[in-house]
Amino acid sequence: MTNAAATPGTSAPSAAEQAQAVVLEAQDWFRDKEFTTDWVTNKIRRWHRFLRRFRDRPVDLLEVGSFEGRSALFFLNYLPQSRLTCIDLFPGPLEARFDRNMQGFGDRLTKIKGSAIAHLDRLAGEKRQYHFIYLDAGKKRDHVLAQALLTWPLLRPGGLLMIDDYDWGKDRPPEGRPHDAINIFLDLHKDEIEILWKDGQVILKRLAPPPPAAAA
Ligand SMILES: C[S@@+](CC[C@H](N)C(=O)[O-])C[C@H]1O[C@@H](n2cnc3c(N)ncnc32)[C@H](O)[C@@H]1O
Repeated sequence: MTNAAATPGTSAPSAAEQAQAVVLEAQDWFRDKEFTTDWVTNKIRRWHRFLRRFRDRPVDLLEVGSFEGRSALFFLNYLPQSRLTCIDLFPGPLEARFDRNMQGFGDRLTKIKGSAIAHLDRLAGEKRQYHFIYLDAGKKRDHVLAQALLTWPLLRPGGLLMIDDYDWGKDRPPEGRPHDAINIFLDLHKDEIEILWKDGQVILKRLAPPPPAAAA
């Protein structure tokens, strides 16, 4: 774990130094795993900035779109008291690779194989709630909109929702990229959210509902 405490006679590490230390630490978490790609390392500084609030707390996380498990490995290692549920179609050999990469987390990890839309709806029916949700499953506008809407009941007040690929595919037709879906979702829930980040990804906080109006 990153040790941010200053030793006597030295100054405390800056925020940039702490973030860089997490990037380096993550390379250990990823070492000896089976990956074909890396969509995570260049996002770690940002994730550290917004997720460090959860580091010392038992938190429930949901990841929609896990692929080979790199982002899941990051979340479980970076947030040592977390429990993570991963939903993915896990087609073909992907499932076995994910399983090998994610060995050792025991009951901190729950894997759900299947369609995000079906399982998000089921989890809502079971009244599940999460402190942090990462939505990273597919690029088609209508799928992303449906998935985003279905995550909403699953996000705790005060919780964070992170949606990937906000700016992806600018040369593609609108229905083939997530941009408009994310904007529609943000507009529908604008009174209930605080947008923390909107560049490449969108990170938002679900605001606590206002107290009920006092009886007249
Ligand atoms: C970009 S990858 C996820 C990358 C991963 N979060 C990471 O950063 O390492 C997208 C994943 O979403 C999954 N996916 C796509 N459409 C899906 C759907 N409708 N339901 C569930 N998973 C889906 C794919 O199988 C793929 O593994």
